[in-house]
Amino acid sequence: MCGIVGYTGRRKAAPILLDALSRLEYRGYDSAGLAVRDGEKLAEVVKATGKLIHLADKTDQGRALEGNCGIGHTRWATHGDPSLINAHPHVSGNCSGSGSGEVESEVVGVHNGIIENFAELKDKLLRHGYTFYSETDTEVLIKLVDYYYRKYKIGPVDAINRMMVRVRGSYALALMFRDYPGEIFAARKDSPMIIGTKDGETYLASDVPAILKYTREVYYIDNLQVARIAPGQVTFYDLNGDEVELPRTEITWDAAAAERGGFEHFMLKEIHEQPAAVRDTLNSLIRDGRIDLSASGLTEEELRAAEQIDIVACGSAWHVGMAAQYVIEGLAGLPVRVELASEFRYRQLPLNERTLVIVISQSGETADSLAALRVAKERGAKTLAIVNVIGSTIAREADHVLYTLAGPEIAVATTKAYSAQLVTADVLAVELASVRGMMDDARRDELLAELMTLPDKINRILEEKERLQWFSSKIANTHDIFFIGRGLDYAISLEGSLKMKEISYIHSEAYAAGELKHGTISLIENNTLVIGVLTQNDLYEKTLSNMMECKSRGAYLMGLTTNGHFSVEDSVNFTVYIPKTDGFFMASLAVIPLQLLAYYTSVNRGLDVDKPRNLAKSVTVE
Ligand code: G6P
Repeated sequence: MCGIVGYTGRRKAAPILLDALSRLEYRGYDSAGLAVRDGEKLAEVVKATGKLIHLADKTDQGRALEGNCGIGHTRWATHGDPSLINAHPHVSGNCSGSGSGEVESEVVGVHNGIIENFAELKDKLLRHGYTFYSETDTEVLIKLVDYYYRKYKIGPVDAINRMMVRVRGSYALALMFRDYPGEIFAARKDSPMIIGTKDGETYLASDVPAILKYTREVYYIDNLQVARIAPGQVTFYDLNGDEVELPRTEITWDAAAAERGGFEHFMLKEIHEQPAAVRDTLNSLIRDGRIDLSASGLTEEELRAAEQIDIVACGSAWHVGMAAQYVIEGLAGLPVRVELASEFRYRQLPLNERTLVIVISQSGETADSLAALRVAKERGAKTLAIVNVIGSTIAREADHVLYTLAGPEIAVATTKAYSAQLVTADVLAVELASVRGMMDDARRDELLAELMTLPDKINRILEEKERLQWFSSKIANTHDIFFIGRGLDYAISLEGSLKMKEISYIHSEAYAAGELKHGTISLIENNTLVIGVLTQNDLYEKTLSNMMECKSRGAYLMGLTTNGHFSVEDSVNFTVYIPKTDGFFMASLAVIPLQLLAYYTSVNRGLDVDKPRNLAKSVTVE
């Protein structure tokens, strides 16, 4: 959702804040703002609607703002439309016009998240004489801190603590107080926030890539804690106001990994990073030809004891779950349910200690996935997280964690994290099958060896991307696309369809091929594009028949199949061939052309590939 940054040190703050925000634009981008303070002088606020570049232009790339201490924000609107007045930072006092200018108020701040009881709090503040200039819940939050700060004449830490006790919802918050020049106060609940120090400077961000260039030594501030930040120093406090020590974590991601590195878009770069992401992830799970999950602490006994697996996730991570379902059931013979986290958290699913709940998440911060994890733990299930961001909340709260080694993913539409999650689930499926006696050693070794061939096979698909680029130019003006498949091919269709619609804005749907004729086929008209995924040996002929049913109603067909099924070419208008692998691992290969197709279609339509409208990479609100 929104991105938050902060800096206090000896350099000019605004250019650093803008640079850090530019790495967070994927979190939200309908407006942006800065508050910067020069020594004892009052803070100055500048805001701009639209993309960050407008804020950079308005401040001469930050050069126009004096001061070594400041906070910044990119917004993804929740409460209130994306106008200048609703843009952050917000202040505790009154605000005229656009909200830019000198801040006379006691408190100025930026916020990510949602305050659920904001209406009730606003009423309380109105009764105490506060007035409101914006429609945001953030203004309420900041005024509530101000209220406690003035009423009890307590310092910022205690005022924030009182606010935290009173507020329901999720937030990451960075505040500056008029009486505390050079300092920033931060707090969070269920919304990520990290703080890093180096060489007498301190940085704060809602996400690792923002400050990776400046420091790798970070602290993950915990829920309901406050951080007091000064140049090169940070002190943490708990809800009682007592000082607490937090461990420092070293981020091992390569800073260059968060740059575009010559590619036109992050998405294209990340598509090309998939062989490495898959290889690195596999190498962390398979050592000397043997599966080694010891880093997660998962024991063979736990894997043997599981009677039911529930996979819970959102978006593409949920699609990984859909694919993993077929693989785990097929290899290990265990029942698997795949649930959307936003649904799972409110259902009354019976869970117990023999249920293994697997939460899959790139960011490790998705609000619904985190809530689902907590529900699973409360109901006594064992939990395993498959997460990309080290130290993220889901990673820390799950009983066990397997990290994917995809590195920082910047494009909103996930590619390499999806691929890394997929092979992690595959390895887990093989291990489950093996320890539960569903597979002999020879078959296990054969599957592990096959997994290790995937990076090269992905490379081979990438080498033929021009064909997809050409085809995408033909379909760029299509209105509707249907992705169909059966079994694992259905799971692949789900991801192909989501990729397409989220970045090309072409309406698309994924359907289980056999289900088409129960309604959806009435939508097929002349030239409707139907993309059939045909990688499963025992099912592809059936899907092909369903495609032919569409063709006889005017559909234009693309088939995605493996080398060898050359007869597909006779039936469809355009065929994409991918290398062969074990049927259980086909998703890792089949998804690549679908990512490329979505990417090139978006480019052909002149859209902002990396930052599609209305979307955010990390969804930290419900
Ligand atoms: C957002 C992203 C998706 C992602 C989903 C889950 O909607 O745009 O790409 O799959 O969140 O995110 P997570 O970080 O939990 O994997």
